[in-house]
Amino acid sequence: MSGLVLIGAQWGDEGKGKITNYLAERADMVVRFQGGANAGHTVAVGDRTVVFHLLPSGISRPRATCVIGPGVVLDPLGLVAEIDTVSAQGIAVGRNLLVDVGAHLVLPYHKAVEAAEEAARGAGAIGTTHRGIGPAYADRCTREGIRAGELARFDRFRELFEQNAARRNELLVKFHGAPPVDVAAELARLEAAAARIAPHLADTPPLVRSALSEGKKVLFEGAQGSLLDVAFGTYPFVTSSHTTAAGVAAGAGVPPSAAGDVVGVAKAYTTRVGAGPFPTEAEGPAAELIRERGAERGATTGRPRRCGWFDAVAVRHSAELSGMGRIVLTKLDVLDAFERIPVCVAYEIDGRRVERFPRSTDDVARARPIFEDAPGWKRSTRDARATRDLPAAALEYVRRIERLCGVPVAAVSVGAAAHAIVEFQSTLP
Ligand code: IMP
Repeated sequence: MSGLVLIGAQWGDEGKGKITNYLAERADMVVRFQGGANAGHTVAVGDRTVVFHLLPSGISRPRATCVIGPGVVLDPLGLVAEIDTVSAQGIAVGRNLLVDVGAHLVLPYHKAVEAAEEAARGAGAIGTTHRGIGPAYADRCTREGIRAGELARFDRFRELFEQNAARRNELLVKFHGAPPVDVAAELARLEAAAARIAPHLADTPPLVRSALSEGKKVLFEGAQGSLLDVAFGTYPFVTSSHTTAAGVAAGAGVPPSAAGDVVGVAKAYTTRVGAGPFPTEAEGPAAELIRERGAERGATTGRPRRCGWFDAVAVRHSAELSGMGRIVLTKLDVLDAFERIPVCVAYEIDGRRVERFPRSTDDVARARPIFEDAPGWKRSTRDARATRDLPAAALEYVRRIERLCGVPVAAVSVGAAAHAIVEFQSTLP
């Protein structure tokens, strides 16, 4: 099988960018299949740190063709700005980037509507990234969306944009009392962006399917995490796309059977940004230490991330949903400082022990974690590059996670540097 699916096993920010970039060395094609610029995939390129939002993390590897697939919602202004930013950092974006004609566009009125709706939710706000993701996917479902292919026919785009913007402006002004979107000014910016994006437009699914059938290595790069999946996450505190492996077929236009093995990326602990239940959330000095050592601030929004301990109930749920054959455990080095490391093995809900992640978000909110303490190792793992470099207690921690999740750990990441990774028996493809 030449495809490989890489997805987050928690609430996002698991370090997928780094792992994608690492595996992209061996990939011919890297495909984003869902989400949009709400992602913030941080990658070390040489001695620089680059954050990708819409561009697939393989873009720094000139050998790999990078695809923004039909399941992505694409902000044309954001994409052009990102291309300029990474170009200034020495990463060439040319024919190596393909944008699917069917990817739905995130337009300025989506962001304005999202900001107004989040404000109206008050204390019940979801804590979205304000990148227009939800409203753009909503338009796709109600068949009011505009697709990337229209950027190549700007007159048609203009017509559709004017129609949609007029309706959204009415909603913004009359219902929310918010300022309207400046249609003429936005159209001018969008026309310039359209000219830049048009050369990248392509019908990408046949190209991805051909690459797979020719045995080329195709990496499907997931964004966000499985617990933010619109169907199986902690709804409504989720994103608006399918972040599980099921998203690949519909989001890249490949048969489910062709997508390939699924690798889940999980942090050695847990973080979450935005609102919603988080059973293993820590407080006080422990949370602060994780946040500080793990630099746990949103790569897209700069918000401090909520921090807590590894939740095996949640990761097991993600692994089962997507059929994860392997896990890559990231940021193990962040735990170097702890004497004892709590690991959540089950929940207690209303006095009952629960091993399965509840379908009801209220139940997740009421779940009390049942922790077992693992011994810490109190030694730096940052220079480890082989199994023998890891302290025995760190290896035991990894084995414990494997046992609890029922999935082998193929590799651990021990620092931000691109090659700060220990692969176990070369189990990564
Ligand atoms: P949205 O995707 O901007 O609509 O945000 C919905 C929820 O998903 C919020 O809780 C966000 O914080 C969260 N979210 C969206 N993208 C990411 C991400 O890339 N990493 C972590 N959380 C995310």
